[in-house]
Amino acid sequence: DQGNRARLLAANSAAAEFFVDQLRTGGAEPGRRFLGERGFDANAAAHFGVGFAPKSWDELTKHLRSRGYKDDELAAAGLVSSGDRGIYDRFRGRLVWPIRDITGQTVGFGARKLLDDDPGPKYLNTPETPVYHKAQVLYGLDLAKRDISRARQIVVVEGYTDVMACHLAGVTTAVATCGTAFGVDHIKVVRRVLGDDSVGGEVIFTFDPDAAGQKAAMRAFSEEQRFAAQTYVAVAPDGLDPCDLRIHRGDDAVRRLVDEKRPMFEFVIKNQLAQYDLETVEGRAAGLRAAAPVVADIRDAALRPGYTRELARMLGAELGDVQRAVSGAS
Ligand code: CTP
Ligand code: MN
Ligand code: MN
Ligand code: MN
Ligand code: MN
Repeated sequence: DQGNRARLLAANSAAAEFFVDQLRTGGAEPGRRFLGERGFDANAAAHFGVGFAPKSWDELTKHLRSRGYKDDELAAAGLVSSGDRGIYDRFRGRLVWPIRDITGQTVGFGARKLLDDDPGPKYLNTPETPVYHKAQVLYGLDLAKRDISRARQIVVVEGYTDVMACHLAGVTTAVATCGTAFGVDHIKVVRRVLGDDSVGGEVIFTFDPDAAGQKAAMRAFSEEQRFAAQTYVAVAPDGLDPCDLRIHRGDDAVRRLVDEKRPMFEFVIKNQLAQYDLETVEGRAAGLRAAAPVVADIRDAALRPGYTRELARMLGAELGDVQRAVSGAS
């Protein structure tokens, strides 16, 4: 209900303030060092509300109890976990990013461990709660939404640090999924932000080279191809993510990465073909078998013939042969 939602949002926002205050304490030194090594100064951290969860089982719990929050509210907000001896802080000894909804309300957190030997996964996120739905939330949307509608462009990156790096480099249309793959629910959010006349808007993905994220996003867009012709992929030649790109090559390189985007279908087809030796007849045949279903799945009738020709060109094959393979694959 609404009252409960409001309490959970208030608890999240109180927690976000607590984490920001904690970033100034002695125990947060590893967190400040991490930020510094990533090229984020105190202003950048403040702009994104980055904070620190102390290495303690109950500091946040005690703080929020003293503010009048009940244990079941903290549990419902995903701020604590429950064990045999009651509740304990979910995020401990981690750098913490507040995840805000489009209106700027904190609905959850993403938290990164600072030492490889620290327990738990590298990133720990808020679990599903009445106010946090990871399938729908896009980190950074509150900061990016105005420029997204103005520039008619949204850049989807993989991580919190990538969003920060993009915005600091001038790519202020960047958002990220939170601990989950980009899916059809995210497409609905994107459509809403780009506006109803989203034709002409661009959706640009940057991915790590580790392909899992790529595959998921492509799957989402083949289920829902309305934006397919406006969907692009930007991958740094050496596979650096935007955060590392900015550290090693600077702001210009991040902007260039986005400017040099390639159409999604071209990217997917090239990826398919890259797995085969196109110098051989057998390799070209296997490449055609792998890429034909991709082209056959293109629902935009204005694009399919063009990609059929493009595939024929890439394979050095007869157009008729490729057309037959595409028809047979659908
Ligand atoms: N992620 C996650 N859980 C993990 C690893 C990653 O939820 N165990 C999500 C986080 O949202 C993270 C994003 O995936 O921001 C990107 O992860 P990855 O590319 O693996 O992180 P790196 O770029 O290596 O992370 P960092 O730059 O922080 O080292
Ligand atoms: Mn809900
Ligand atoms: Mn990765
Ligand atoms: Mn990465
Ligand atoms: Mn990274």
